[in-house]
Amino acid sequence: MSSLPPLLLANWKMNLCVSESRSLARAIAKSVLNARKNKSTRANVQVVLVPSFTALDAVARVGSRSGAFSIGAQDCFWEERGAYTGEESVCSLREIGVSFVLIGHSERRQYVNESNEAIRKKIECVSNDSTMIPVLCIGENHSQKVLGKRKSVLQQQLLSALKGLFQRRLTREIVIAYEPVWAIGTGVPATAVDCAEVYRYIRGLMENAWGAAAVGRLCRIIYGGSVSESTVTDFVSKDISDGALIGGASLTASGFTRIVHGVMDSL
Ligand code: PGA
Repeated sequence: MSSLPPLLLANWKMNLCVSESRSLARAIAKSVLNARKNKSTRANVQVVLVPSFTALDAVARVGSRSGAFSIGAQDCFWEERGAYTGEESVCSLREIGVSFVLIGHSERRQYVNESNEAIRKKIECVSNDSTMIPVLCIGENHSQKVLGKRKSVLQQQLLSALKGLFQRRLTREIVIAYEPVWAIGTGVPATAVDCAEVYRYIRGLMENAWGAAAVGRLCRIIYGGSVSESTVTDFVSKDISDGALIGGASLTASGFTRIVHGVMDSL
């Protein structure tokens, strides 16, 4: 288990426009602050909202005024600036106040053919920024699961994305999100037993490269894929995961708030 607080990331994908994102962020801020007031200080959960690029600024303003949550971006480019039409740089994200960046989400691997090499470059770029934490998403698809290839797929995705970082000492935080593709948006999450096994496996690979102490201090391994208010505490607990990446269930203030409260109550 990581020594960092549990991490709950709300991945809003392309579901909300700017005004909807702002309203949802305000409602979530209010209820997270209320929950913190009513719970003990031990109930320390890090909440991160991950809106689309165009809504980042509006949501970040709500975040910095309230102090209720941090901000994440759904992607970034690996160069600081230049002729890369349509891309977003770490430098712009930093200016807005983004502190987490999702990299290699399966929807980007699937719909825009994001390659392992692109993912590796993005991980390096974000890791080199002292204010930002990369969230590397990895996971097997349904046929890989059926063929018993889960571990080899995870190993290949992890090693190709982190090969540069594995050669250096770990000095900054990193998050690995285990997101089985077959569980995303299907209403059928992985089992806690599967998650626990994957957690140990990923942690072992990272400890081999960086040592147990650094991994315990700087790495969180979280789970994503159809997490709901009724299942979140099955996942966010000791030796199963250090948090959750939540898509569909983060799109209403009441639903996401119940997830945050559930995790706080379970600590
Ligand atoms: P979901 O999405 O919770 O809707 O399954 C998770 C994700 O894709 O990050």
